[in-house]
This record gives sequence, C-alpha cells and structure tokens, in this order.
Amino acid sequence: MKLSELQKIIQGIPKTELHLHIEGSFEPELMFEIANRNNITLAYDSVESLKKAYQFNNLQEFLDIYYLGAQVLLKEQDFFDLTWAYLTKVHSQNVVHVEVFFDPQTHTDRGVPFSVAITGIHNALEKAKVELNISYKLIMSYLRHLSEESAFQTLESSLPFKHWIDGVGLDSSELGNPPSKFKNVFEASATEGFKLVAHAGEEGPADYIWEALDILKIERIDHGNRCLDDNALVQRLIDNKIALTLCPLSNLELKVIKKMEDHPVAKMLEKGILATINSDDPAYFGGYMNENYYETAKALNLNNNQLMQLAINGFEASWLSSDDKATHIATVKTYFNSLN
Ligand code: HPA
Ligand code: ZN
Repeated sequence: MKLSELQKIIQGIPKTELHLHIEGSFEPELMFEIANRNNITLAYDSVESLKKAYQFNNLQEFLDIYYLGAQVLLKEQDFFDLTWAYLTKVHSQNVVHVEVFFDPQTHTDRGVPFSVAITGIHNALEKAKVELNISYKLIMSYLRHLSEESAFQTLESSLPFKHWIDGVGLDSSELGNPPSKFKNVFEASATEGFKLVAHAGEEGPADYIWEALDILKIERIDHGNRCLDDNALVQRLIDNKIALTLCPLSNLELKVIKKMEDHPVAKMLEKGILATINSDDPAYFGGYMNENYYETAKALNLNNNQLMQLAINGFEASWLSSDDKATHIATVKTYFNSLN
C-alpha cells in the first residue's frame, strides 16, 4: 500500500481517543499566547527554543517540562482555549468520541481553584458536543508523586462538580509510586460513583498492573505495555476484557520502546487483548490520533483488518452506552467494507 493511501484510510476511520491529558495538548504557540496575556515569562524565549527542549530520556524528564508549561494556565478562558484547540484539532482527524484527563492538583497546588480549571474544560467539551458532534467523558487524574492525602483533598474539591466528571485516574511518576499507595482514595472515589482507571506498566513492572486491577479495582489500564512480561496477567486481561489505552508515539518519545517497530500493539491484538491507540500528550510527542495510527501502521505493517480492530476496540473500551457503541462500531465496519 502506498503511504499516502494509508494516510487517507486512517483519516477516514471514525476514531475514539481514550488516553489524552488535556495539559499535554498544550501547543507551544498557544502556550506563548496565554503566557503573554497573563504576563508570565516562560523559561524559554521562543516557540523554537521551547520545542528544542522536547527531547526526553524517560517519563520524568517529560513530566518536568509538562508541569512547567501548565503553569501559564490561570483563568477559566485559558482552560477553555486549551481544550477547544484540542477538540477542533481532533475533529479535523475524524475523532468522534474523547475521554479526556485533567490533572487538578497541577493547578490547585499553584492556587488556581478547582472550579476555574474544570469550568473552562467543561465548557469547551460541551461546545464540542453541540458544534462538532464529539461525545465526551471527563476523568480527573490524581498525581501519584503526591500523597494519598492530597488525592483525598482533590476528591473533596471535586464533589460540587461531580455531575461533570465521569471517572478518576492515576498519572505522573510511576516508578516508586505503586497503585497500592492510593487504595483508600480509589475506594472512596468508587463510592462517590466515579469509574476507575490508572496508568500502570508504562515504566513500572507488571506487578503494578496487578495492583491496579486487584487493589484499586480499575476497569481499564492506561498504557499497560509491561503486561507482556506476565502470561497470567495477559490471560486476566483477555478473560476480563480489560482494555489497554496504548500510546505509541509517547512510548517512542519516552524511550519505553527503542523504535516503533518494537511496539507491542500487533502482538497484543494477536493475543486478543483489547488494545487501543491514543496520543497521551500530543503537543509533546509529535502527533495526534492520525499520526499515532499512521506511525504504528507503517512500522508494524498493519493491515486493514488490524486497523479496523483497533478502531472497534476504541469504542468497545469506551464508556459510551451499549447502543452508542453498537452504532459507532457499525459505522466503522461500513467504512472498512467501502474500501474493498
Ligand atoms: N504517564 C504518566 N503521567 C502522565 C503521562 C504519562 O504518559 N502524561 C501526562 N502525565
Ligand atoms: Zn498518560
């Protein structure tokens, strides 16, 4: 297949995005614009010098610069603009459903109220629902390098906005911060009616995935690459239809894999794992949904059946209703049939 044809096919697939940190969609141009209007001086003097700093050897090196960028977000309008920019971008890539993370503590710890961040994000998501026909869920993520007590405070702050939030997640520095550290706050979050996900097995071992499943009782794993180290775990994921939200360009940029040809997604599909493709932090890792599909398909020689399975898995693994899943999956199948 010609590569331009592959790009065309990927563009046409109705897609979901289930692993996206809204703070990670902050493009340098918008960052400078918002910094200027908030009278904040960034540590970099131009878009170009900032982009040059986007070279990471591991997750922590990325997180350091990601938290720095988020510091220019102060007002509701800033959060709205950030979210709206992401949504219009993925709309142009035929993404029809998104499940978006935000990191409340990154903002509340700087004195930006929970209400300011969530209202800006929520208003943009609602606008996209009406104007772009994108459905959405919102997930607040606890920062695992902070204490469980801090996560409990975040849960408390979120309660007046409970009707806007669908689930909780766990992100930030994985190694040394196992899921078990957050057992009690995940239990309390479930009691409040939130759905549960957690990052696990990105840099951390397969044991962290077991902990996320058995101790936090999560229903979907963010990343989960390391599950392949453990056959019993792979069987558990298959038996319980636990989805993985994989992020190929993120894995490449954070050196989870050496080259895209090493990405485990094809192996996972072959085993029957509910693997999905997502972008994680597209402004930092060189691509949104189409680019993640494209680079993966190119490196692993994915065929149309594998691409269709990935798209179907995205809807299966989503928090849409069974009826909405069925409708979207039928559209995906019709699309691929039309290519033959
Ligand atoms: N891993 C952990 N924390 C994160 C990530 C990630 O890939 N992106 C943003 N926060
Ligand atoms: Zn992530």
